[in-house]
Amino acid sequence: MAVAHRDQLIELYHGEHRDLRDNLLGLIDAFKARDKRKIKKFLKAVDEEGGPHMRCEEEAIFPALDKYYMDNQLEHLLTEHDLMIATLRKLYQILERGPISDDDVRVAELHIRCVLTHVTDCDGALLLVELLSDRKAKSILTARRRADRESLSICQYASEARGRMLRASSLRVLFGGC
Ligand SMILES: [Fe+2]
Ligand SMILES: [Fe+2]
Repeated sequence: MAVAHRDQLIELYHGEHRDLRDNLLGLIDAFKARDKRKIKKFLKAVDEEGGPHMRCEEEAIFPALDKYYMDNQLEHLLTEHDLMIATLRKLYQILERGPISDDDVRVAELHIRCVLTHVTDCDGALLLVELLSDRKAKSILTARRRADRESLSICQYASEARGRMLRASSLRVLFGGC
């Protein structure tokens, strides 16, 4: 029997959250080892693999869950995405500067662990995806294929297609204050 669209969607997102979790933990280890080659590898993996994932959440999954959330809870998830975008930009800045300092390691680890918390929050939202109709899940998978075709990384999506200003709280990641 064909797998229901809803099950396909949940399986896809669970799998990607696991990959994000592992790449974020790998990124922390790479910072601690001050290994720029590994930092670049994990940073690119999070940025590139997370792009269509985040875009489809914002364009299709979160709106579909609207009836279960209060407005401020959806805003909370979007603000966590702001934080993720600001964190990736900050980590690219650190990578492009000279050698990795002790302070860079501290700042990177702090922000990456905040992003990791979002990944677990986001995986929790799949409990609500289980309640969607199969028809709705099918339309979300169609939106996801569109995002896959454009294949924008998280940073590209943020600057070219997202249409949302980063909230002030996430700008602190870029300009200090942690
Ligand atoms: Fe997610
Ligand atoms: Fe997310």
